[in-house]
Amino acid sequence: MNDLKEFLTFDDVVIVPGASPVEPGEVNISSNITPSISLSIPVISSPMDTVTEHRMAILLARAGALGVIHRNMPREEQARQVSLVKKASPSIWSEVPRIPADVEVAAAFIFMDETGAGAAVILGPNGFEGVILRPGVDAGYWYGKAEALRLLYSTVKPLPTIDSDGLLRVGAAISPFDVERARMLDRAGADVLVVDVAHLHNANAISALARLSKEVSAEIVAGNLGTKEGVLDVLSRVENVAGLRVGISSGSICSTGEVAGAAVPTLTAVMNAREALEELGLHGKIPIIADGGVRNPGDAAKAIIAGASVVMGGRIFAGTEESPAPKIRVGGKVYKPYRGMASRGAMERRFAADRYSKPSKAIEEGVEGLVPYRGSALEVLAEFASGLQAALGYAGAPSIRDAWTKGRLARVSAVGIREVRPHDIMT
Ligand code: IMP
Repeated sequence: MNDLKEFLTFDDVVIVPGASPVEPGEVNISSNITPSISLSIPVISSPMDTVTEHRMAILLARAGALGVIHRNMPREEQARQVSLVKKASPSIWSEVPRIPADVEVAAAFIFMDETGAGAAVILGPNGFEGVILRPGVDAGYWYGKAEALRLLYSTVKPLPTIDSDGLLRVGAAISPFDVERARMLDRAGADVLVVDVAHLHNANAISALARLSKEVSAEIVAGNLGTKEGVLDVLSRVENVAGLRVGISSGSICSTGEVAGAAVPTLTAVMNAREALEELGLHGKIPIIADGGVRNPGDAAKAIIAGASVVMGGRIFAGTEESPAPKIRVGGKVYKPYRGMASRGAMERRFAADRYSKPSKAIEEGVEGLVPYRGSALEVLAEFASGLQAALGYAGAPSIRDAWTKGRLARVSAVGIREVRPHDIMT
């Protein structure tokens, strides 16, 4: 007991400036949430009932990120939400001209010349058929579906998060104990199933997940985990883990640390997971998702330098237009409700809405509150994209992989923490 470990959190550290070979605007922040799913912007939204339903998931995937649909609803409804995302057209379709499939190619070229469009989508009786590109923009004009979309998108940055059929990607939250839900989500087309329990390092939960993982084809992100031992145990007992969701009790609406006294701050959880993965030679192969307490791009960059591939956020998206919570006006200002999934309100809804899943715990480990309304989630993504580029630019890392090796964090004193924020002025 004399040898207590110290668990560092985002505010305990700063990024050490390093020699940068590139300008911040040239930093490539694309990353992977699983070995096969890459994101242009490495930020995903939490599966929470005041954060992610289909509207958020569609917007984020269109913009190059990803949403994870929450599970505080009946299985059928969650599966429907997943299919709504898969059915949504990537936004670029509405931004480029559409040409009916029976139009002559020459006429299409004339049309594009006249409108100045470099590309057009060809629509047949069953919807999307291909892409036509103006000569000079690229050679040829017909491509296979996925390749055509990729070509089209490559002219527009960032690249949307799409699957090999050109459909938007989507994640969905699961419980390790609800195989039927996981199967339904898998059938509905979820690209990644994200385990959504507060403490996966539990014998029953791991065994259940080991069984469940054999029943679905979608990739599985396991979590939440906080320790090296937890990661090693899960990886030794569950096959096909495609990502790790780490962080215990750092969430802005989380009261676990208070109620149960247990926590592994997200930054430390990332470092612990990285240590486990490095021991297995798997760091960089199984992505780490840093979950909880990310407030700004600086926090996200610290998590990435510590070894994460992607960050997950609830509060950063809760106040946006696309979250499923209603706008509320208080004293002339606009807010949106945001609550923990283990808060009283969320647990009551779970009980009422889904007879297959009961509240798992009798005590509340989350709180409910309001966050300021802040416009579209696109603005959050834009802020994180350019903030991450700036941070990695300081770190001297032209990409996320470089950030793992070249990036360095240093501890600051409690006084230093005050100094590195705006101070001593009236705002
Ligand atoms: P935030 O981004 O700091 O708001 O944290 C969001 C994260 O908190 C989620 O992704 C979950 O991992 C976690 N979380 C969600 N609901 C609860 C809760 O009720 N208690 C504890 N943690 C929660």
